[in-house]
Amino acid sequence: MSAGQSFYLTTPIFYVNDVPHIGHAYTEVAADVLTRWHRQRGDDTWLLTGTDEHGQKIMRTAAANGVTPREWADKLVEEAWKPLLQTLDIANDDFIRTTDERHERTVARFLQKLYDDGHIYAGEFEGYYCVGCEEYKRPGDLVTPEDGEFAGRLVCPIHGRPVEVLKEQNWFFRMSAFQQQLLDLYETRPEFVQPASVRNEIVQFVKQGLEDLSISRSSFDWGVRVPWDETHVVYVWFDALLNYVSAIGYGEEEAEFERRWPAVHIVGKDIARFHAVIWPAMLLAAGLEVPKTVFGHGWLLVGGEKMSKSKLTGIAPNEITDVFGSDAFRYYFLSAITFGQDGSFSWEDLSARYQAELANGLGNLASRVVAMVERYFGGAVPSVGDLTRGDEFILDAVRQAVAQANDAIDRFAIDEALGATRTLVQTLNGYITDEEPWALAKDPASRDRLATVLGVAVLGLKTLAVLLAPVLPQATARLWPALGGEGVLAAQDIRAAVETGGGRVSLLDPPLFPRIELLDDAQ
Ligand code: MSP
Repeated sequence: MSAGQSFYLTTPIFYVNDVPHIGHAYTEVAADVLTRWHRQRGDDTWLLTGTDEHGQKIMRTAAANGVTPREWADKLVEEAWKPLLQTLDIANDDFIRTTDERHERTVARFLQKLYDDGHIYAGEFEGYYCVGCEEYKRPGDLVTPEDGEFAGRLVCPIHGRPVEVLKEQNWFFRMSAFQQQLLDLYETRPEFVQPASVRNEIVQFVKQGLEDLSISRSSFDWGVRVPWDETHVVYVWFDALLNYVSAIGYGEEEAEFERRWPAVHIVGKDIARFHAVIWPAMLLAAGLEVPKTVFGHGWLLVGGEKMSKSKLTGIAPNEITDVFGSDAFRYYFLSAITFGQDGSFSWEDLSARYQAELANGLGNLASRVVAMVERYFGGAVPSVGDLTRGDEFILDAVRQAVAQANDAIDRFAIDEALGATRTLVQTLNGYITDEEPWALAKDPASRDRLATVLGVAVLGLKTLAVLLAPVLPQATARLWPALGGEGVLAAQDIRAAVETGGGRVSLLDPPLFPRIELLDDAQ
């Protein structure tokens, strides 16, 4: 197949200290929807995800559980992180672990190059470190609670725990040398960091002055060894960021690297700084292109705070998918929350939107139309005849939904794309209500009119199947053939409304989105 434009998208690689919650799942489904969408445009698409396994956080968790860090990571990857991809229907093309040999080789080679080119020097680090964030902290990043367990101490506001004081001989990356180049980058390429709220924060941060970055640690040994100094391991973020190039063969498979790079990075806004400051500085130092875009999405909140395992507010993704299915999970989080802003989750909201938008909306529309084609035309999808102004209006609305949804995806506005499909479902439902095919069916003289109305409805629904395939892969894989659609749905061009009818319908039994009674204890 001839390959279109390259679209290489990455998720953050996840720490394996704990099991996933729905905040992590949110990043994964957003990335998966964007890549499925681009694949359906014919772009040369690649989705990378994986796990971040080095550093003190993992080392301490493993020790607390009485196993080696490697044993711990293997267990979490196999029992929690890879299964998450199944649970959510993620169609990733690769899964990288920072303990993969291909990755460790690249980290060592990249660092050696920076050292040889004079970007690295030996120095002493003295300051604060949050092991939860795996980040060096400035005093201004920290808070001092007046009461409670940590009263009077310097505490990381993200993890709610005191930071550690470090004084170590470390290797430093001359990041300060890239301050102006980074500011120029943000200025000349506003699309580099998105959304604007995150971009502003990043620009402010860099304007305050960039310091050099400590990129090695010597007080523990769980990491990639610094090639010229065996007593140090590489700082876990410096190591982790390189996954985005090691996975596509940087320095080893040049053709593959050239084909894919640069990437679009989807990250939570809490880690946008690493991706929009440290990472491009590293790439500039190595003479590589910077990413196309770093998009920082918002947080899922519980009680107004970021959902987190460390604060015991984590909800496991399968608590939701076991009840509502993975399609509903994907749809709900991406349509109910503006991509780029924070959002709150509640069982009531999920349940209400499932019922209104999926069961009574799309699901009911599909069942009704298919049942009427079956009943009035023996299952053969009727051809569209002469069009009234009302029919033209509907077909225009279908084309508009396609254009709006694609435009929204180009701006990472996944929620807006789903707003366009939701409106189309309402428009088609209104059309059926107004045209009353059941009344037309009673009069043999209205046979052509009945055929056109149902033919138009089927075209609208087929277009919905194509547009929603990236979000609802399971439901649309049933819907497409049920509407008489031929071939593989994922091969349909997502930029065009479906103009071909014909074929035979098949009844949707059970319905696409069955009624769900929430048990009291699930609420
Ligand atoms: N290992 C680093 C990333 C390295 S990338 C080179 C890391 N891992 S993480 O497991 O802590 O977080 C992974 C992603 O999950 C981040 O993008 C983070 O923003 C996201 N989320 C964690 N909790 C979240 C919410 N409550 N809501 C939405 N996303 C959240 O950081």
